[in-house]
Amino acid sequence: MLLSLSTTFYFQPYYSLLAANSTDLKSSRVSLSINENIGVVGIKSSADRADISSSLMPKGRHHSEDVINYSKNGTGNMPLSDKSSVRPAALTIKGRHDAIDESSSSKNGNARVTCSNTEYKPENWMLPGQAEDTLNQLNLAIVGHVDSGKSTLSGRLLHLLGRISQKELHKNEKEAKLQGKGSFAYAWALDESTEERERGITMTVAVAYFDSKKYHVVVLDSPGHKDFVPNMISGAAQADAAVLVIDASVGSFEAGMDSAKGQTREHAQLIRSFGVDQIIVAINKMDAVDYSKERFDLIKQQLGTFLRSCGFRDSSIILIPLSAMENQNLVASPSDVRLLSWYHGPYLLDAIDSLQPPMRDFSKPVLMPICDVLKLSLGQVSACGKLEAGALRSGSKVLVMPSGNVGIVRSLERDSHACSFARAGDNVAVSLQGIDGSLVTAGGMLCHPDFPVAVAKHLELKVLVLDVTTPILIGSQLEFHVHHAKEAARVVRMLSLLDPKTGKVTKKAPRCLTTKQTAVVEVALRGPVCVEEFSSCKALGRVFLRALGRTIAVGIVTRIIEEQD
Ligand code: GTP
Ligand code: MG
Repeated sequence: MLLSLSTTFYFQPYYSLLAANSTDLKSSRVSLSINENIGVVGIKSSADRADISSSLMPKGRHHSEDVINYSKNGTGNMPLSDKSSVRPAALTIKGRHDAIDESSSSKNGNARVTCSNTEYKPENWMLPGQAEDTLNQLNLAIVGHVDSGKSTLSGRLLHLLGRISQKELHKNEKEAKLQGKGSFAYAWALDESTEERERGITMTVAVAYFDSKKYHVVVLDSPGHKDFVPNMISGAAQADAAVLVIDASVGSFEAGMDSAKGQTREHAQLIRSFGVDQIIVAINKMDAVDYSKERFDLIKQQLGTFLRSCGFRDSSIILIPLSAMENQNLVASPSDVRLLSWYHGPYLLDAIDSLQPPMRDFSKPVLMPICDVLKLSLGQVSACGKLEAGALRSGSKVLVMPSGNVGIVRSLERDSHACSFARAGDNVAVSLQGIDGSLVTAGGMLCHPDFPVAVAKHLELKVLVLDVTTPILIGSQLEFHVHHAKEAARVVRMLSLLDPKTGKVTKKAPRCLTTKQTAVVEVALRGPVCVEEFSSCKALGRVFLRALGRTIAVGIVTRIIEEQD
């Protein structure tokens, strides 16, 4: 048996409980805890996830090239980034169909009785007004190989930006020293659990906040250890951009790039597959290599080649040499002459401010994949996650899927503070009333009552197979991931092999799939998940297949074959 689904969700303070401690607003947890080794996938996937036909498109938006060909029938060749940019009404969440998408649904006997997207009219409050003077929110995933310094870097940034008090830093320094782990003082601002501190590794995604000149940044500090890759998904799935942290030390960079075990590779592929196309590469621990330009250049050259192969464009990659430990090049230009003598680019905070604002789907019916559920008193619950589309406010009715029950939004919290509304892109905790809390589950979805998301367990996927040692066959048991949901899955059909460049079918009914092949397959899931075809909604149509603790394929949903009633 290839996988285990014994995932435990435990409900720690994610957003709301932190409000109880007003001095401790800097971090909270995405409390997805995985019992067994189940890794994550990387995809050479496509365009910007926020590229879902936003009607409010910021200037200077990015277009990225699709590495897999995403056309619906598995044979076309148009990058979706292009498609969506010319097809602003193409969102086809159930009830969000446009004419182009009708054909494939009905062809499959799967036509949904839906309202056209144009029938949905957002109310005024749902759209950001010109006069609103708030910073754009940027969800920034901090990813990279184990021990590369992600938490230290995050902790240092938070301290430099005043989000961690001197008192707290001293406390962490003292306690870390006592445990013989003095070098982890900054990391402990993020690694708060006893086990994380004892083991010296991050296990769950820590969430923290700071403001830059341009953004209200939500830091998602991910675990790098391979056993906790699934936990990283919960953060990566919400990311608008990423900082990939590299350990520049001799041997460590190389370990991260190891094709079998290196999380630099897996994380980069994963983050790209989630549609993130802007990446800052923080070449950390430059102090350990004497701020050597030669070492930086070597890493830059090797990583550049790899990141391009993942589908990142050169213009969307920023590489910065820095030292989290010695505070070089984080929020100001370096002071160490060894670095200063040859590096004249941006420092990290500058680079964050140079990222393109994420596009948001404000004018679509609300859609929020549930990342986490907080149990409140009297059986009430808060659903936590990032709004992928639309807006919510107190009193909004929401359909909770897959249960199909309607609840009412009682209150909302953003960054541990009560707020009166939330819009696409916001990470919020939505406390619900009028619904049995047990029906609200992580991996589920909050949506507009008139525009329910599809719920299905038989899907056609277009996948790119990553480095695998065992070929994928009909009958292969896999772990299927989509947004925050996962299910056991079985490959039931292998329809075709595709030319990765042209998208043309090169072979029908292949017997097996191996490394780097692109193929169209059908999978049957053990239980239903909330899902959409990628052409309808990118965020809900990106999938990852894992087996034996490793991501073996990344892909998109090309067809929902069997929908649940
Ligand atoms: P995981 O979350 O477990 O993957 O680790 P991480 O990437 O968060 O690394 P962490 O911040 O826990 O740091 C790991 C070790 O690297 C600690 O001993 C840090 O002190 C050390 N470290 C972090 N940044 C630097 C740096 O800039 N220079 C040097 N020399 N060491 C560093
Ligand atoms: Mg860490």
